[in-house]
Amino acid sequence: MQHLSLEIGLSKEEKYQALLPQMSALLAGETDVIANQANFIAALQEVFHWWWLGFYFVKENELVLGPFQGPVACTRIQKGKGVCGTAWFKNQPILVPDVEAFPGHIACSAYSKSEIVIPIHNNVGEVIGVLDADSEYLNHFDEIDKRYLQELLKCLFP
Ligand code: SME
Repeated sequence: MQHLSLEIGLSKEEKYQALLPQMSALLAGETDVIANQANFIAALQEVFHWWWLGFYFVKENELVLGPFQGPVACTRIQKGKGVCGTAWFKNQPILVPDVEAFPGHIACSAYSKSEIVIPIHNNVGEVIGVLDADSEYLNHFDEIDKRYLQELLKCLFP
């Protein structure tokens, strides 16, 4: 059983930097995809404690809920719908400082106030899913989260 080790009092960027090698080590010893996806989410949540964090994966031209931590969530999202479906459709990360101001946002939880969605690609650049983080605070995610979440995802989807 491995445990994450992070000093207290670190900035957000320092937390990500401390997490990166530990995430890589955590996933390296296991080949099962679902086990690694589940631990990826758990490790991030152990550090950041966001309201909701999870994967959606493209299956038969819909996004279908994958491993996550947080309250129960919508199981299927259409391409172009909500923040997740839009990040898939546009094939780009989306930062939403205020979900009320995002047209078509899908409110899985009334407590979610801001959100970041990062597309995940296969080795020919197609979107195979997204990572979605939701916060109960407005304006909670920024370019630092975008950069490091993309970096962390490389541990799972090299
Ligand atoms: N808010 C997302 C839906 C997924 S959940 O919040 C877990 C969206 O608009 O795509």
